[in-house]
Amino acid sequence: MGELDGKVALVTGGARGQGAAEAALFAGEGATVVITDVLDEQGEKTAGELGCDYLHLDVSSETEWESVVADVVARHGRLDVLMNNAGIFKPAQLLNTSTELWDRTVAINQTGVFLGMRTAARAMIDAGNGGSIINTSSIAGLEGGFGATAYGATKWAVTGMTKTVAKELGKHGIRANSIHPGAIVTDMIAEMVDGKEERMISRQPIKRLGTPNDIAEMALFLASDRSSYCTGQAFTVDGGVHG
Ligand SMILES: NC(=O)c1ccc[n+]([C@@H]2O[C@H](COP(=O)([O-])OP(=O)(O)OC[C@H]3O[C@@H](n4cnc5c(N)ncnc54)[C@H](O)[C@@H]3O)[C@@H](O)[C@H]2O)c1
Repeated sequence: MGELDGKVALVTGGARGQGAAEAALFAGEGATVVITDVLDEQGEKTAGELGCDYLHLDVSSETEWESVVADVVARHGRLDVLMNNAGIFKPAQLLNTSTELWDRTVAINQTGVFLGMRTAARAMIDAGNGGSIINTSSIAGLEGGFGATAYGATKWAVTGMTKTVAKELGKHGIRANSIHPGAIVTDMIAEMVDGKEERMISRQPIKRLGTPNDIAEMALFLASDRSSYCTGQAFTVDGGVHG
């Protein structure tokens, strides 16, 4: 028996990285998984390998959210787990942050999470089965992260929205929690890590960088009924960096 038997999960940004690992673990535990992304070719490939559906979804688009969630409910009858994973990370200190970079980062990392929670929560309430919303923040959403003003602002917003929404949706049996990854080796930080891996590891209690699967394991816990008494909480998975 799988941990997620009978559940339907939507994973944003699931074509690669942490989202792909989450989709794989969820599917392996019996969930019906729908992967979404803007990288259609890679998304189709990942979904094909996992035996999942793939749908195009730019998380910053309200109309795309409406049609994707409606499509998931039409195909599978319900939505139980929303894994808000999609995000961008374009490092820039305050003085070098263009308004364009600020707006784009907010649109994807913050508005994308808001739209996803609102659209999915409506569908979850209509279905009447409760649900689990998992938002991907960062340790940059728990402390100051040098050199990424816009990113840090959006990840703190995710931390705050999660706590607020958890208080509003609990009465519908919907839980909302955030995951706070440290340095996880994916395409997102490949350039940042290049040549600096040993120095980064030397600052960590656990002497390795994280893998997408480290995050997927926490996501699985939060998606499953094992975490049924947890909501509004921030779960850090960072090798002990933030403490
Ligand atoms: N890798 C890290 O060290 C790290 C640390 C802390 C938090 N995070 C967060 O983890 C999440 C996953 O990142 P990752 O490390 O797997 O990086 P990644 O770049 O491999 O994956 C991000 C995914 O989001 C998708 N995406 C980007 N813009 C999108 C949009 N507008 N609509 C839909 N999808 C979009 C990308 O196409 C990609 O598939 C992000 O929210 C990121 O901010 C990552």
